[in-house]
Amino acid sequence: MSLPANEPRGRAHPIPPTRWPSREEAAASVLFSPARLGARTSRTRTWVPAMVPWRASEEGFVTPDVRDWYRRFADARPGVLVLEATGIRDVPSGPLLRIGHERFVPGLRELASDIRRHSDGQTLALVQIIDFLAVRRRPPLEKFVLRFLELTRAHREGLERLGHSDAARASDDEVRRALLALEHADLLALLAPREREALEYGYRERVSDTHLAHIAELPRTLPALFARAATHAKEAGFDGVELHYAHAYTMASLLSRTNQRDDGYGGSPEGRVRLPLEVFAAVRAAVGPEFIVGCRFLGDEIIDGGSRVEDACYYAEAFARAGFDFLSLSAGGKFDDAKQPKVGAAVYPYTGPSGHECMPTVRIDDARDPGSRGPFGRNLRLSRAVRERVRAAGFDTPVVGAGGVNSFELAEQALATDACDFVASARQSLADPDWWRKMEEGRGALVRRCEFTNYCEGLDQQHKQVTCKLWDRDLEAPMPWPSAGGAPLPLSNDSKRRLIAP
Ligand SMILES: Cc1cc2nc3c(=O)[nH]c(=O)nc-3n(C[C@H](O)[C@H](O)[C@H](O)COP(=O)(O)O)c2cc1C
Ligand code: SF4
Repeated sequence: MSLPANEPRGRAHPIPPTRWPSREEAAASVLFSPARLGARTSRTRTWVPAMVPWRASEEGFVTPDVRDWYRRFADARPGVLVLEATGIRDVPSGPLLRIGHERFVPGLRELASDIRRHSDGQTLALVQIIDFLAVRRRPPLEKFVLRFLELTRAHREGLERLGHSDAARASDDEVRRALLALEHADLLALLAPREREALEYGYRERVSDTHLAHIAELPRTLPALFARAATHAKEAGFDGVELHYAHAYTMASLLSRTNQRDDGYGGSPEGRVRLPLEVFAAVRAAVGPEFIVGCRFLGDEIIDGGSRVEDACYYAEAFARAGFDFLSLSAGGKFDDAKQPKVGAAVYPYTGPSGHECMPTVRIDDARDPGSRGPFGRNLRLSRAVRERVRAAGFDTPVVGAGGVNSFELAEQALATDACDFVASARQSLADPDWWRKMEEGRGALVRRCEFTNYCEGLDQQHKQVTCKLWDRDLEAPMPWPSAGGAPLPLSNDSKRRLIAP
């Protein structure tokens, strides 16, 4: 797949050669040693973080394809496997998993039991639970002006300035027609910044839109919504939940320095962390102390005016003090700097500089620059800083690091040098779901190594079923599990790709 147009175009970093451990080395390593996670113990410090595969039904139910996806990761018995971002509200959201109603529990129960069976009970399974605000597709100009734009006095005054002397008395329909007939630059100059954004990128709600009742009410509604979702995860037999406080979604927006809410839930570090703490308290009260409850949040938002690692350290200390069972770090992935979508498409938060830091490719910075690191372990600096702060404050909350981890050496070094307590690896686990097991059994030389060129992310962007470009094209192969009785592999909607890793 060719590079997306907005991808950094520096010289690509080669995948560094690596030395794989023998079985004995792996057994003696920190990576394959147990670690506490709340009231539970993880068998190893290996972690598969959340990845949306676009395989749920349109109504948000678990499908056979979803079950296959997680079974395949569970086969390698990682310490922790986190389910994709799963919606807590009972509202349509396309083929994303949902957990906001009892009716989703039976399917999720099958999924939890699949993971237990395929990992021989060795993997802790968490559900990443998410809330997001409305994001609409970029509208065609005509539709925006004639239908969506809410007319204000400013529009009529703007038209008057441009010579439409009767604009004040004109009907709404006449005003819309006059706006549509303007030169595009004149129209843009006449729109307020949020109106311009709605035209050029698609309308998007903000946590500071407190003139909208449902957004003003978030502090009253979200704790109960998250608590109900976590209760469903517990009923379904999962071991815990990961509160999604990262990337472009509601909770991350509350934690963002850009959150200017003036109702006590924004405007200062204490205000910004308040609702995330209240959500945690409600979840903990609903599920009790034995159920794992942690969060994923941003070590750096990357965007201008956004939260930096100092903010993340402040939040981490507050989370640790509140009793979160783990803190998982990510970076970027914001709407604020995303690329303009095509008309009819929605803005995708992994297309701008912050998105590139979230899922860094081999071209994240130019390999000719001696100071450049490429994607390999790139965001471990964030988990290291957060962990240091949490430890200095006297807490032993486990910290999860991620970002370009693709070798035993890198993972082990991160743990040995206190960059994190668990090592999460998303794309390397997608490229070869067995890689943890291969390393553990001294068969590391057989690992299929991720190329970090983001074919998978391109599929995610188009809401297509996610697969890896390195999986073979043997579309006639049987299912990999004896229990499937030689049934054929499921294929993608276009029948061109296998849906299960070789
Ligand atoms: C296809 C795909 C889907 C993803 N979906 C999620 C998600 O649902 N929630 C989340 O927190 N991160 C998501 N991520 C980000 C990964 O969890 C991870 O943080 C990122 O890929 C960097 O780690 P890596 O270098 O090991 O891949 C996704 C990544 C990919 C490639
Ligand atoms: S498509 Fe495969 S090789 Fe490419 S970045 Fe994704 S997981 Fe890695």
